[in-house]
Formats: sequence, structure tokens, C-alpha cells
Amino acid sequence: MSHFSANLQALLRVLSDGEWHSGEELGERLSVSRAAIAKQLKALEGLALSLESRKGVGYRLDHGLDLLSEETILDSLSSLLSPAESFSGVLHLHSEIDSTNQFLMNRFRHGQSVHGHICLAERQSAGRGRRGRRWHSPFAQHIYLSLAWRFDGIAAMEGLSLAVGVIICEALKSFGVTEVQLKWPNDVLWRDRKLGGVLIELAGDAVSDCLAVIGIGLNVSAKSSEAIDQPWVGLQELGVSESRNMLAGALIHSLSSALERYPEGGFQVYQDRWNALSAFDKKRVTLLSPSGALDGRMVGVSRAGALCLEVDGRLQEFIGGELSLREQ
Ligand code: BTN
Repeated sequence: MSHFSANLQALLRVLSDGEWHSGEELGERLSVSRAAIAKQLKALEGLALSLESRKGVGYRLDHGLDLLSEETILDSLSSLLSPAESFSGVLHLHSEIDSTNQFLMNRFRHGQSVHGHICLAERQSAGRGRRGRRWHSPFAQHIYLSLAWRFDGIAAMEGLSLAVGVIICEALKSFGVTEVQLKWPNDVLWRDRKLGGVLIELAGDAVSDCLAVIGIGLNVSAKSSEAIDQPWVGLQELGVSESRNMLAGALIHSLSSALERYPEGGFQVYQDRWNALSAFDKKRVTLLSPSGALDGRMVGVSRAGALCLEVDGRLQEFIGGELSLREQ
């Protein structure tokens, strides 16, 4: 992206160690003038990073930066594969992009290969959340990851968005995170605070060749952010010290192996696992839809991933991207 010249990226890599670097050293390492460094440092201002400067000493990024690296993600992936397996996906890493989901959608619309492609960005300028909401995506703080997968017809991906929630929770458990739960359809919560979310967007033909772009936002950093309008938590606060690269590698691995098998088993394979993770199990809830609110008791999810509520003593099933659930 124009915003992120090669020089700016190189400067960020040097400063990512959290140590002090003099202007002179930075100029030498990037082979540019001191004036050019000053210009790049100014460009960093828009990234809301904690850049300190001290006269006679130089510059430092407080706490450094955990930058994405293709090499480390691939290393993390291969450490998870069995000797007989190999990673067949394609990684696209961006410093800045509108939306990682949009990037993969654009490839599809331009007729480029996209199945198994993964897009990750340090920041999204127009990150999308469910129900038309914005997904706040500050630079190098959290994981913004999308994976594109082709299915033979939309029926083969029934319940997929819920299954992805299960896959994320189980991957997080392997990093020692306990108490993760799911709010229908796929909000990842930790003690009622939002840890992550999933936005699946579809393209192609509903009965034959269709594409799912599975977008995952996972909070990592503990850095406060006023732009998030609900209680949230990042993995760092939960004691996870692995880098975003290791976490992304684990997510990509779990997702791609689950997607390979999804058309055979479908959501049935995940139904009990989803119900065991349900944040509102047996609780009184309100289902909000664009047409109004409905009170009921959370029973669980069906074999197809529909939300099952007991409303006035009768079991009712609900499905749809515009719905959301609240505890009463
Ligand atoms: C939600 O509202 O809970 C879903 C949030 C999904 C955000 C992710 S971040 C990566 C991908 N790209 C987007 O624009 N959105 C998803």
C-alpha cells in the first residue's frame, strides 16, 4: 500500500525490537538521509504507536511491535503438520488493506485463484463486522485473517459459521486459554467480554461452485481502545505470550484441516461441541432481529446450526445473519 513504503516497513522492523535507536543509526540501516528518517517517523504518527523520542538518544517504540512475518507463520504451520502433510495454501500479508475479506473477494471477482488463499493484515482501514458493523483494526495489535474456500454448493457449507467458532475456541484452548465460550452464532467470548468474531461472506453460484470467505478477528493486544464499543479482552490479558504469527499459524492449520473435511461431516460433527461452548446455555435470552425482539430460553443449536429457543413453551428454530442474541 502506498501508505507503507518499503522504507516505512523497514523502519518499523528496526523499531519493533523496542530498543532505542539513534536517528543516525536508523539512517544507516535504511540507507537513507536523516531527513528521510524524520519524514518516515512523522508517517508513524498516524498508526497510534507509542513512539518515544529522547534528545541525544533517539527513538524507541515502547514495548516494541509484534509484526507479522510470512516466514514465521509458515514455520508455525509446518511445526503443526505431520511429516506426510504439506501446506498447500497461499499467504497474502499486507501492512494495510481495506478489509482482508474484501481482498479475497476481489481476487475471486477478477477470476484469480483464491481457494485456500489466506489474507492477513497489520491493519484494516475498513474492517467489517457482522450486521454491517465496523471492525476496529489498529496496526499490529490484533489478528485480522481471512481464508477463502470453495464449496460445491451452498448446502455443503451449512452451519459453517458456527463450526468456525468451535474451531477458534479449540485452537485457543491449545494455547492454554480456558473459559472461552460462544454466543450464537459465532461471537467468541471470555467471561462475557468479546475476544473474537467471525464474518463469512459468500460469492459464486449457490448450487454449484461457491466461495466462502471466512474472516476472523481475534483480539490479542491489551492496549486500550476507545473505538471498541463493547466490553472486550485480548489474548495477552489472558496470559497468552505467543506471537500473532504463531497464533495465526495455528488458526490457519486448524481451519484448513477442518475445511478439508467439512463437506463429509457437515455441522453435525460440531453440534455437541458448539453446545458445550454455549455462553447462554439454558439461560433466558432476547433474540434481536431487524423486525423486533423475542424473549425465550436458550436450548442450543440444531444439527443444521439453527438457534433453538423455547418461546412460550414451544421450541422454535432461527437462522440468519441479521439476528443477534442478548442475555436477559
Ligand atoms: C463480528 O462482527 O463479530 C465479526 C468480525 C470479523 C472481523 C474480521 S477481521 C478479518 C476479516 N476482515 C474483515 O473485514 N472482517 C473480518
